[in-house]
Amino acid sequence: VSSSNLLRRNVRILLIGDPGVGKTSLILSLVSEEFPEEVPSKAEEITIPADVTPEHVPTNIVDYSALEQSEENLIEELQKAHVVCVVYSVDDENSLDRISSYWLPFIREHNQGENRKPVVLVGNKIDLVDYSTIDHVLTIMEDFNEIESCVECSAKTLHNISEMFYYAQKAVLHPTAPLYIMEEQD
Ligand code: GTP
Repeated sequence: VSSSNLLRRNVRILLIGDPGVGKTSLILSLVSEEFPEEVPSKAEEITIPADVTPEHVPTNIVDYSALEQSEENLIEELQKAHVVCVVYSVDDENSLDRISSYWLPFIREHNQGENRKPVVLVGNKIDLVDYSTIDHVLTIMEDFNEIESCVECSAKTLHNISEMFYYAQKAVLHPTAPLYIMEEQD
């Protein structure tokens, strides 16, 4: 556990993932506690005051939109973030495949410094399906030990929305022991 995380007095959360998986909807659903039927391509950066977050730490939530941002800009945001929520849509297998083929390698590649940036995997639109993607996600977690937790949720029904942001805060403030210790024992 890094001491810098224990002392951290704010948390910066970045949401990334393929177009259309629901990043902007997740942020706006959290803030307004209802599903926005129409969303802009990118939400404004929001700050949640300490007293209304579960860990009592002011929390910034940052959206990403490929339409509005260059890759350079995304890399800057990645480097500023303390935790990255990588979002896929549970009804779109391609968006889940892209987590391990594109997004997680991209985060590793652009992560300055020695520590891996904690990641929360977020499967949105669970209201659309009657299955779970968790088995697939567990196999991804075996290969990427920076994944601190995973959650299936719905911006539409608000299912697990506050939990998702809580897991992101927790990944920064109370990270679990690194899994590579287990790997070394193999
Ligand atoms: P980009 O701006 O293209 O990166 O997309 P995004 O990831 O921000 O997705 P956005 O929030 O714009 O949502 C894309 C579409 O999915 C919209 O039509 C949303 O209404 C819809 N959507 C988002 N979340 C949910 C959900 O939980 N359930 C359902 N059924 N639809 C959703």
